[in-house]
Amino acid sequence: MASVLVLNGPNLGRLGSREPDVYGSQDLVALEALLVADVEAMNLPEPVTVDLRQTNDEAELISWLYEAVDTKTPVILNPAAFTHYSYALRDAAALVTKAGVELVEVHISNPHARETFRHTSVISGIATGVIAGFGFGSYRLALRAVLAL
Ligand code: DQA
Repeated sequence: MASVLVLNGPNLGRLGSREPDVYGSQDLVALEALLVADVEAMNLPEPVTVDLRQTNDEAELISWLYEAVDTKTPVILNPAAFTHYSYALRDAAALVTKAGVELVEVHISNPHARETFRHTSVISGIATGVIAGFGFGSYRLALRAVLAL
């Protein structure tokens, strides 16, 4: 069965209560349900599993990217604050796209409309594509993109 990894970085485990004015009031459980429903509604020729994970640990996130390389599983990645400074995460994400596996960087908010430090992404340069600013819609659009590719 094909699957899509939906990887979430630090503090995204607090969605629902974390800055709802910026990130909305729904949590990762609701996001997973939304993505699973989207896949079902697509009536794909073969079943696709949505494997949604969250960690505050950079090393764990990197190990999940290695897993994506080894299993050739496409990735939807919200690197959260690691976006802006983690060269280690960038190098691991580069392994994914250099292996010919899609990796879409997503953000719930539009980082470019926020503080200056959020305007830099060290991930975007090696991502297959970037979707930001559509709330959970960013993940839903990314899911459509990876399944279409
Ligand atoms: C975020 C934007 C980042 O700047 C921030 O550090 C996050 C969430 C987003 O989804 O909008 O944690 O990646």
